[in-house]
Amino acid sequence: MYKIFRCLLPIRYGKLFECKIQNKRYLARTVLGIETSCDDTGAAVVDEFGNVLGEALNSQHQFHLDNGGVIPTFAKYLHRNEISKIVQSALDKSNITLKDVSAIATTVKPGLKESLLVGLNYSKSLIQDCRKPFLPIHHMEAHALVIRMIELVEFPFLVLLASGGHCQIALVQNVNKFLLLGTTIDCAPGEVLDKIARRLKVKNIPQYSHMCGGQAIEVLAKQGNPKAFEFKLPLHRYRSCNFSFSYLRSYSSQLIEKEEEKYNIVADGIIPNVSDLCASVLYILTKQFVRQVQRAIMFCKYNNLIPENRQTLVFSGGVACNEYIRSALNKLCNSMDWRFTCPPPKLCNDNGIMIAWNGMECLKAGIQGTDAKEIGIATKCPLGTDITKDVTDANIKVKLFQFDKH
Ligand code: KG4
Ligand code: ZN
Repeated sequence: MYKIFRCLLPIRYGKLFECKIQNKRYLARTVLGIETSCDDTGAAVVDEFGNVLGEALNSQHQFHLDNGGVIPTFAKYLHRNEISKIVQSALDKSNITLKDVSAIATTVKPGLKESLLVGLNYSKSLIQDCRKPFLPIHHMEAHALVIRMIELVEFPFLVLLASGGHCQIALVQNVNKFLLLGTTIDCAPGEVLDKIARRLKVKNIPQYSHMCGGQAIEVLAKQGNPKAFEFKLPLHRYRSCNFSFSYLRSYSSQLIEKEEEKYNIVADGIIPNVSDLCASVLYILTKQFVRQVQRAIMFCKYNNLIPENRQTLVFSGGVACNEYIRSALNKLCNSMDWRFTCPPPKLCNDNGIMIAWNGMECLKAGIQGTDAKEIGIATKCPLGTDITKDVTDANIKVKLFQFDKH
């Protein structure tokens, strides 16, 4: 009860809706969030206390897995087929109607053009009917902010975002104020894991046939030797917080080819040391994350970017489901007296909840909705203000933290 009244005091505008959770009734603003940036059609309604009133998600994952990767025209077709059912289902589960929500938040950048357009156009049609404020959402910002829905993480905090399309380290100063410390200079880690898993043909092993590449590699790696195959650590000469994953992909491909020749593997066959390869891939990937985060933490420390008692690293995005990487980053943070936290896996992968929550964060910060008619999509979009050069210029030398020895 205390929580409700305390939080209701600052409400100045926006329709309050009577919500009911575990038979307790309370008044709150609510936001409907819609996500269609890649291959998940997601919708959710959240209130300002971080309660998820209702959610629905349709993943196209199996379809794209069976067809060798995300095909934009199919993604668009599947989003179109699902979106009204998913939004209606989220509203029904919430027990509210569209006229009760305070605003509609939708992912408009970055992502696949065909997919983003389905979500935006659908939201525009909803807004024409119900005349609600519209909140355009940056997909990666939503990944970064969703942690605040479930626990207290005050601004500013450091975030590592790793997904199928992105890899970024940023300082989150506010809902809409990000400083970009590092980014990938080529491809994204999730994309590379998916491609390596495809090249290894792991979906031919029934146990892994429904898993995304990253998850399959994580499970296989548990039985493997991380030192079996030696990979170089990319960008080791540069004192930046940037990432590179293209070498991991190309060298893995070469190694798989060699092993297939060695063991005379043809067609759908799988190399016998697949677990060793997965363990070695995951090890070097983690090493890169650890080193760049270590440098980012040092940059924050040297520049007093985060007050001492609140130094927190958040890890989010699909790749943040990975327990091995989480554990390594956790050990690093412990060794540097930083707090480490991650959203639960369900909120690390794409979903409508994080979009609704980002919309709610906007309302709480007094950010007004925009005219949806004026809004378009952007397939590529920077994350905040780019200070990657300042980080490189700081020339911070890192003595790599041995996460595997702690
Ligand atoms: O954030 P997300 O759901 O979608 C994008 O915005 O891209 O991330 C999807 C990515 C996929 O590439 C998938 O392989 C990866 O997250 N992923 C994982 C794990 N689970 C999902 N990567 C490593 N370990 C996992 N357990
Ligand atoms: Zn994502």
